[in-house]
Amino acid sequence: MLNIALPKGRLGEKVYAMFEAAGYECPSIREVNRKLVFENADTGVRYFWVKPSDVSIYVERGAADIGVAGKDILLEYEPAVYELLDLGLGKCRMAVAGPKDFYDDGTRTLRVATKFTNIASAYYAGIGRDIDIIKLNGSIEIAPLLGLSDVIVDIVETGSTLRENDLEVKTEILPISARLVANKSSFRFKGTEIERVVNALSRQIDAASNT
Ligand code: PRP
Repeated sequence: MLNIALPKGRLGEKVYAMFEAAGYECPSIREVNRKLVFENADTGVRYFWVKPSDVSIYVERGAADIGVAGKDILLEYEPAVYELLDLGLGKCRMAVAGPKDFYDDGTRTLRVATKFTNIASAYYAGIGRDIDIIKLNGSIEIAPLLGLSDVIVDIVETGSTLRENDLEVKTEILPISARLVANKSSFRFKGTEIERVVNALSRQIDAASNT
């Protein structure tokens, strides 16, 4: 059995559809219920839904052999896993955003609110800008509106959260997408099965990019 951690939510649905099309179907996963673990002995897979930011923890510790995690999470937490494939799903950008009328003139320490403190710190260290980092856990867009921070570092997908809160992208830091990751010892001991999944998913990605 290959244990596969999928990110719960909209991205996870797309990821599962890709695994299914690649030959790793598990029909019971489509049943509407509160179950979190699904397996199909015929295709040799056991899927489980976990919080997207927890996927890499399951994979790093070997509770899952493989999983799908956002590049944002991999950069922020640097789990000791192998990154095998860019699935090309869940595409978005990590960006600095702020109020339309805010301009960083560099005269004082910049207050940055974010969930991604490591990514934000590395970015500002790279450009030699002093910052005061404010760690939040969600609804980051509120911080500059209430004067808690000058800017935010956050994920922008459609841009509608920013627009609806009168914020705009100031700088794009990184493109983000979903990645297939593997536990290091599973990669050794279940290498053939994992390789087969990688090849089957790669064919799906190629097919999608040719349509
Ligand atoms: C993410 C992100 C932004 C929003 C961006 O939030 O933090 O708030 O999505 O998407 P958009 O550009 O399409 O509007 P999420 O829904 O994960 O909730 P959060 O507030 O917990 O971060």
